[in-house]
Amino acid sequence: MIFEKIVLGNVDSTNTVAQSYIRGDLDHAIVVVADEQSAGRGRLGRKWTSPKGNLYCSLLLPPIDDCPVDPRLSFVAANAVYETVSGFVEERAAVSIKWPNDILIHGKKVSGILLEAVNKDNKIFTIAGVGINVVSETVEQVPPDIAANVTALHLHGPQSTSRDEVLDSFLKRFDSWYTRYRNDGFGPICKFWNSRCNTIDEKVEIPSRKLEGISKGINEKGQLVLETQDGRIVVDSDEILLSSQ
Ligand code: BTN
Repeated sequence: MIFEKIVLGNVDSTNTVAQSYIRGDLDHAIVVVADEQSAGRGRLGRKWTSPKGNLYCSLLLPPIDDCPVDPRLSFVAANAVYETVSGFVEERAAVSIKWPNDILIHGKKVSGILLEAVNKDNKIFTIAGVGINVVSETVEQVPPDIAANVTALHLHGPQSTSRDEVLDSFLKRFDSWYTRYRNDGFGPICKFWNSRCNTIDEKVEIPSRKLEGISKGINEKGQLVLETQDGRIVVDSDEILLSSQ
């Protein structure tokens, strides 16, 4: 996969900037990277605090013929982020994935993924926004109520790790998982994700859905399978925001 790289200084959100590169005949992927974001956004309408030093990037993926919005791409990205993070920390076993797609080190969040989709002339363009905390200062800059649950690569590996090294590693790994997804389907993605998820067979709560149960991992549609008091249910990952252009 060829990535056209757009490197910027301060932007509102790389996901928003990526949207501006959508055009009908786009046939390759574009990655928008920024030093800082003034309006970085997270899942469920949350803010993503984005000071200088961390990785903020958005992959704009060209449409796949007749393919609707595909939430499974966020698991493709999560596997790539998981491997990237593992490559920059001393204790690989400390890295895990939490539903839907947080990457954790020793149980603290180091990365988040925000998948958005845009319909242009009935073709679906996917934007996968990825934030990876690289520098330690980040942890002090997030709101106090979440600071205790946040971490950064420098706290677990070499201080010399740069944003650009993290980006290069992520793009290579994304390319490899995306190619596997296109060639072999979701099976290998799902299997890897489940093997790295930290809550399989454990009690989990999904506060945004007011649900709790024993997690059985994700199924072939990318839904979380939960055993609850009322039986087995499946939970969709958050609705992907679909806009039109
Ligand atoms: C989450 O809530 O966990 C998802 C966070 C996603 C943050 C990234 S940073 C790059 C891209 N641009 C944004 O505005 N958000 C995503």
